[in-house]
Amino acid sequence: MNTDEQLMEKIISLCKNRGFIFQAGELYGGLSGIYDYGPLGSLLKNNIKNLWIKKFVEERRDTYLLDSAIIMGEKALTASGHVGGFSDPLVDDVKTEKEYRADHLLEDAGINPEGMSIDEMSQALKDNNILSPEGNKLGDVREFNLMLKTQLGSSSDSSSTAYLRPETAQGIFVNYKNIMDSMHPKLPFGVAQIGKAYRNEITPRNFIFRLRELEQMEIEYFIHPDDWKNQFDYWREEMNEWSEMIGIDMNKLYEVEIGEEDRAHYSERTIDFEFDYSFGQKELFGLAYRGDYDLKKHAEYAKAKLQYTDPHRGETFVPHVIEPSMGLDRTILAILTSAYTEDEVDGNTRSYLALKPNVAPYKIAVSPLVKNKEHIVEKANEVFGILKAEFGNVAWDDNGNVGKRYRRQDEIGTPFCVVVDYDTLDEDHADFATVSIRHRDTAEQERISIDELKNYFKEKLSL
Ligand code: GAP
Repeated sequence: MNTDEQLMEKIISLCKNRGFIFQAGELYGGLSGIYDYGPLGSLLKNNIKNLWIKKFVEERRDTYLLDSAIIMGEKALTASGHVGGFSDPLVDDVKTEKEYRADHLLEDAGINPEGMSIDEMSQALKDNNILSPEGNKLGDVREFNLMLKTQLGSSSDSSSTAYLRPETAQGIFVNYKNIMDSMHPKLPFGVAQIGKAYRNEITPRNFIFRLRELEQMEIEYFIHPDDWKNQFDYWREEMNEWSEMIGIDMNKLYEVEIGEEDRAHYSERTIDFEFDYSFGQKELFGLAYRGDYDLKKHAEYAKAKLQYTDPHRGETFVPHVIEPSMGLDRTILAILTSAYTEDEVDGNTRSYLALKPNVAPYKIAVSPLVKNKEHIVEKANEVFGILKAEFGNVAWDDNGNVGKRYRRQDEIGTPFCVVVDYDTLDEDHADFATVSIRHRDTAEQERISIDELKNYFKEKLSL
């Protein structure tokens, strides 16, 4: 059994060694809270994004996909409340000048900081004699705005100040009128977006859990205000279904109702979906009822009409919003944590990723048993071509001996290995040439005829 810390170390090192996730800027010492996705991590991420779009856009009639700009102007983010209020409580170690999240220091000391003002946090740190992790005195707590600011063009006046968006959601709200005018949707309808968001986190930590550059998958679902309770329950089910579908361990997923004092002031109900990461139970997704707060604010600041007129009843109102919000990086960490498994095969410990085939970077790996027998390699190439044309993400693996290949494919979560061997070429059975299929989770093997391979995998991969 691994301790939680060991598990995290193993996941991080697997991600680096097998090309899933690298520290960004590593060559130059690394950028804290920013990661690059390598070849396999990119495939995993892409599979999740494609499944999300399939489930929440393609298979529905009422949701539109959007890809809005990452850079947003100051006025839009002032309207949304981010310029004035998107901040975390910051406190300095007076000796080293290192900065910490005051709420995290209180939590670490067993004090619940939820609902505390900045002054109350300062007082609580003092009253409880809480020191910095280095053992030094702390200064006063202050607000630190998390948005990354930039400048558009050469002018230094404030009209060209812009920000990297802190959430994809605002790109949806500022496009409400465009969507209405171009697509003419009827309520209820959703706008779904996958994209990067940026938060200058004070203490990024826990690998890809708390990032400064993150990716979100968000839906703003516009509804009639009377309908919010039904819609909230519906989306709660959808989020559970989604989690199960992509292989999140449902025994490690908890719905946590957020109390009034901790909810954003405009939200009448919020549920956090928390996951049991190796470093504790923390937020994975959020589901919030945002009311009409965002559209009203943008309407006020942009002096625009952001409304809806019911074609049957003639009633005009500002739609309300249910927001299922899912962090993609946290999804990946939850999937990896759920999938990481160790067992014993032939007396040796092996580690593998029990990924669901729908998210696995490669669905199948194809190998010639040996590299130096022309006919075997040729046949293996033929099988590889057939499977790749049908299933796309298929790996060719002829490195090392077959045992090593199995170990490598196990570690990256490939559900099936197909091996072309001497029996495949057995001339007595040329019409029913078979290959060996080895299953990742059981390490068991079976023989299947090449003619049956496509159907066999269509069924196994549920395609
Ligand atoms: N539009 C609502 C919104 O952005 P949030 O709870 O701040 O709400 C939504 O973020 C989701 O984005 C979270 O549930 C989490 O999955 C992800 N997320 C937020 N901050 C993150 C960070 N610093 N690093 C990685 N993921 C983050």
